[in-house]
Amino acid sequence: MRLEIVILAAGKGTRMLSSQPKVLHLLAGKPLLQHVIQTALTLNPDQIHVIIGHGSELVQNRLASLPVNWIIQSEQLGTGHAVQQALPHIHPDSQVLILSGDVPCIRTQTLKDLIQAGGKLNLLVAQLNNPTGLGRIIRDNQGQITQIIEEKDASDAVKKVNEIYSGICCTYTQYLKNWLPQLTTKNAQQEYYLTQIIPLAVNNQITINSVTVSDSFEIQGINDRQQLQSVERYYQEQQAQRLMLNGVSIADAKRLDIRGELHCEQDVYIDINVIFEGSNQLGQGAHISANCTIKNSIIGKNVIIHSFCVLENCIINDNSEVGPFARLRPGTELAAHCKIGNFVETKKAHFGENSKASHLSYLGDVTIGRDVNIGAGTITCNYDGQNKHHTHIEDGAFIGSDTQLVAPVTVGKGATIGAGTTLRKDAPPFELTLTASTQKTITGWKRPNKQQKNSEINK
Ligand code: UD1
Ligand code: CA
Repeated sequence: MRLEIVILAAGKGTRMLSSQPKVLHLLAGKPLLQHVIQTALTLNPDQIHVIIGHGSELVQNRLASLPVNWIIQSEQLGTGHAVQQALPHIHPDSQVLILSGDVPCIRTQTLKDLIQAGGKLNLLVAQLNNPTGLGRIIRDNQGQITQIIEEKDASDAVKKVNEIYSGICCTYTQYLKNWLPQLTTKNAQQEYYLTQIIPLAVNNQITINSVTVSDSFEIQGINDRQQLQSVERYYQEQQAQRLMLNGVSIADAKRLDIRGELHCEQDVYIDINVIFEGSNQLGQGAHISANCTIKNSIIGKNVIIHSFCVLENCIINDNSEVGPFARLRPGTELAAHCKIGNFVETKKAHFGENSKASHLSYLGDVTIGRDVNIGAGTITCNYDGQNKHHTHIEDGAFIGSDTQLVAPVTVGKGATIGAGTTLRKDAPPFELTLTASTQKTITGWKRPNKQQKNSEINK
């Protein structure tokens, strides 16, 4: 049987109070709609149709790489009307799964259960302690579903029903073709509700089955920023639990944020308030201390990242150590056994094995060999106001503290640069190079006395 999926994502999301379409708001660093589309893809459907309307260009541009059929619903007249826009694009012999672009945590297995629930119309439902705002499932004496009543149309008795509709259902093209043209706007919101297909199915004696989700977060819709925040926390904690089950130690599952993909080998340790963005890898035994932000980086075995470091697009090889308070900008690559200490900023900086910059430096556009020691306060002057220039520091060089390397410049193998040097020409290998300024002593010099203020003289 063919399977086609329709994702409803045309609504404005009024309650977000945002200039951005709701489905582009981020959950764990990814637009809500992207979560839904990626889950839909795991079912290997024949086609995914996404109904967009509000901010449709923004949505389409942002998610242009995803293999879906975009359908514009120019006026948002209700969820039933939205599905109707997809109907001409759907094969007549398809099973049709309908998802909501604002229900991002739905799991593949739950959708498989729904597809295979056996009815001609299968509804995903849940029992909630607080069902406020959601469509209520109404059943007859035999327990058969007879209708769904929206909160705004519900009597006080109906509002007491705890069984709700998730917004997710599964049926077949032929039924949708029959039912959707029959929908009306006779309801409190004057919309074409998709949920009005239920009484039509009952009239047609179509079997309606339901699947109940036990974890209500899975079907939590996001309509405002409070719901977005609570789903974010739920999602993050799930990710932390999954990592722990795979041999990663986490100081506090509630204080870790992974906005993207994080691959960890065993015995990684992650302290509190760490943020991972984009795609990151941590090697066996890597230790990430508190309050670090790490983006698109590869971190090797037994690496230690001390507290308060910010890394972006970096490769840190085994047994290296970074921080505390280091900023490693894109293009930083440390070979094994390197050390970057506090208040060091790097950019497009390649370090050979066992090289160190332990304190207070700016190292940009630089290739550093192995066994190099960079003294405190070293600066690569890589920018002349128009262009960037490269600095080469060869194996075994020793750069004294407070040195400025005016690029382009090369420090030869085994060279020593005296403290306080401004290096404007290449330094030859194995020699001491320094800026000679003779030290003077002025004998008998006195420090100035503190001048008395007028007010004090007049006392
Ligand atoms: C809907 C269901 C409700 C269910 C709830 C679960 C209906 C009538 N109600 O209510 O029973 O309990 O979901 O979260 O279906 N959309 C469009 N075009 C439109 C209108 C909506 O694409 O014209 C999209 C929205 O962008 C959203 C989804 O459909 O992604 C659901 O619409 P929304 O207005 O949020 O419906 P709810 O009031 O949440
Ligand atoms: Ca909703």
